[in-house]
Order: sequence, then C-alpha cells, then structure tokens
Amino acid sequence: MSVELTTPSLIPTLPGYTYVDEGIFRAEQERIFEQMWFCAVRSADLDRPGAWRTVQIGRESVLISRTRKGGIRAFYNVCRHRGVKLRMEEQGVAARSFQCPYHAWTYDFDGRLIAAPNLTKMPDIDRDEYGLVKVHIREYLGYVWVCLADEPPSFELDVMGAIEERLGDVKAIEGYDVANLSLGRRVRYEVKANWKLIIENFMECYHCATIHPELTEVLPEFADGLAAQYFVGHGADFGDDIKGFTVDGSEGLDRIPGIDEDQDRRYYAITIKPTVFVNLVPDHVIIHRMFPLAADRTVVECDWLYVPSVVESGKDVSASVELFHRVNQQDFDACERCQPAMSSKVYAKGGVLVPSEHHIAAFHDWVSGKVGDVTPSS
Ligand code: FES
Ligand SMILES: [Fe+2]
Repeated sequence: MSVELTTPSLIPTLPGYTYVDEGIFRAEQERIFEQMWFCAVRSADLDRPGAWRTVQIGRESVLISRTRKGGIRAFYNVCRHRGVKLRMEEQGVAARSFQCPYHAWTYDFDGRLIAAPNLTKMPDIDRDEYGLVKVHIREYLGYVWVCLADEPPSFELDVMGAIEERLGDVKAIEGYDVANLSLGRRVRYEVKANWKLIIENFMECYHCATIHPELTEVLPEFADGLAAQYFVGHGADFGDDIKGFTVDGSEGLDRIPGIDEDQDRRYYAITIKPTVFVNLVPDHVIIHRMFPLAADRTVVECDWLYVPSVVESGKDVSASVELFHRVNQQDFDACERCQPAMSSKVYAKGGVLVPSEHHIAAFHDWVSGKVGDVTPSS
C-alpha cells in the first residue's frame, strides 16, 4: 500500500509580531532596504539640471539629483561638516549647487565640496574626500534604483531576475518600453500597515472576489482567486465584453506599440522585492513604489504611465486611472484592517495560507532568511 504525501491545504504565515515589532523592522531596514536595490524616483521627475528629490531608504535619507551634463547622482543627504540634513523637503531645484543651511559648505551636483567659509585658509582639505558620499545607482524602466550597500547585489539577478521569474523571460517586458512612457497620473497613499502585508496582499487574489468588484469584472478569472502571479508567464485575460482596462470596461487609451499580440488584452503583475510592483496592460503600465517608514506605516507612490502622445494630447485617462486607484484603496483598506490584529494574542503564532496563497510562503521564507534570527524587541 502506498501512502501519498500531499501538501496540507493550510500552511502557516509569519507570526503576528513580525508585522509590528520595532526590532524586526529595524533589522529589515538594515538587512533588506539598505542592502538591496531600492526603486527610489522616476528619472523624468529629475527634469532639469539641479532638480532633486529626497527619499527615505531604510534609516537613511538619500538625495538624488540631475547633474549639469544630464547624469543622475545619489548621495547620503548628510553634510560632511557637522552632519546637517542638507535638504529637508521632498523635492526642489537647486540653482547652482547644494549649500548646507548650517555653515554653508557647498557641493556641486557631482557632490564635490566646492566652497565653504574660509576654505582657502584650510588648504589641506581634500574637496573630493569631503564631498557628499555617493550611493550606487542604476536606471531601469525609467526609474532610478539606489543601493546603499558597499557591494551591491546583482541588479540582473535581483531586479531583472524577478521579471524573468514572473514573465518567463525578461525580454517580455521590453515591448512595453516602460522607460519611454509618460506619467499620466501619480497618487500617493499613506498606508497604516506593515510593508509585508502590502506585498502579501499584492501576491494573492483569494481576496479579489470579495473586495475588487470592478477588477473581477474586467479580469473574470480573478474571481476564482488565482492571482496572475501564480503561474510563470501567465497574464490574466480581459473578459469577452471588456474593451479596455478601465473602471467600467470601456475603451482604454492608445495601445503601447511594441507589445506582442499575446500580451494584448492581458494583465500581468510582477513583484520586485523588496518594494516594487509592476502591472502591465496593453495601453498602460502601473508602477507601485513602497516606502516603508515604520513597522506600521508605509507610503506607496503609484504611477500610471501611458504612451507619450496620450499624455501630451491631454486625453482623458480618468476611467483608466480609476480602476487601479479603486483596487489600491480596496487593497490598502484591507491591509489597514489586518495591521491592528497583528498584535492580537490570537495571532501571536500567525494565521494560515490557503492553497492559492501557498506561493506567499516563499516570500515568508525569504524574509525569515534575512531577519529570522532577530529577537523581537517587545
Ligand atoms: S553642518 Fe553643513 S556646513 Fe556645517
Ligand atoms: Fe487586491
């Protein structure tokens, strides 16, 4: 008699404290956000020399700016003199240089120390050595990806590899020409939930039938609870009577010219750990960037990107934006409802994943591999 070993229907999640504990979050900042490639800003937002943005990556503030020659540089947002945060705001344009508001040390757009009060009387100061400290950058899909690690991990494996793993081939994203699309809309969501809840929610579709009536109308297979991310290379088909990826299934915008026939009328979703979601449909691309700010607080910036002529001509993208904006609100509401329960004694050992969510266990294993040895601080 043979005994068949099968995977049980229910497998455990991470314990509740991993979503609330400050010590665990600190370890995630240190070992995940400050070590991996982190999608920071959209390159086109740095639209002229001196344009800059600041972003929080783990425990660090990073200043990202456009140089005079059109390049992009990223620095720790820390003055080399006595450590003042050079720029407190989130964005701006510097006329000629970055001058520290405390004692006026001044850096050019390449980060070199170019002036300081009495600098000429201190001839031994090496202006490069006391320049702003650079961090590694890569531009990909029209975004600036930053890595704070001294030795960055492979971008090809970690970032492009995530796309390959999902689509079956990294080339499958090329036809969408994401880097050359234009920003049609950006919405910033303040989510009172741990970043891992947001990732887990994005990875599964068991909740789709319950909370996403508009999305399941457009993508009927989502009503069955199997996410597009469950199968390699699979894109969810639009319903037969659906004309476009819009809130009411009406016609979308101009199709992205380079996509393949089999990518038409399909939706693909990709998770790029630790903080990025990419959504591909025939006429636009939606990119989510998460900024985890505390164990229970995450900012999500969501960009809707279209063929440039759509944006330039002022076409109405609202029905198209509204679909995923509602999905975002529905998802983030759900995450915010989970968050308080993460510290309930009933959830101390966590909950369970049903079979259509089993792939989330791989994400949990990955997190545990990074911070599983950390003793919770509370
Ligand atoms: S701290 Fe920046 S110039 Fe003194
Ligand atoms: Fe969802």
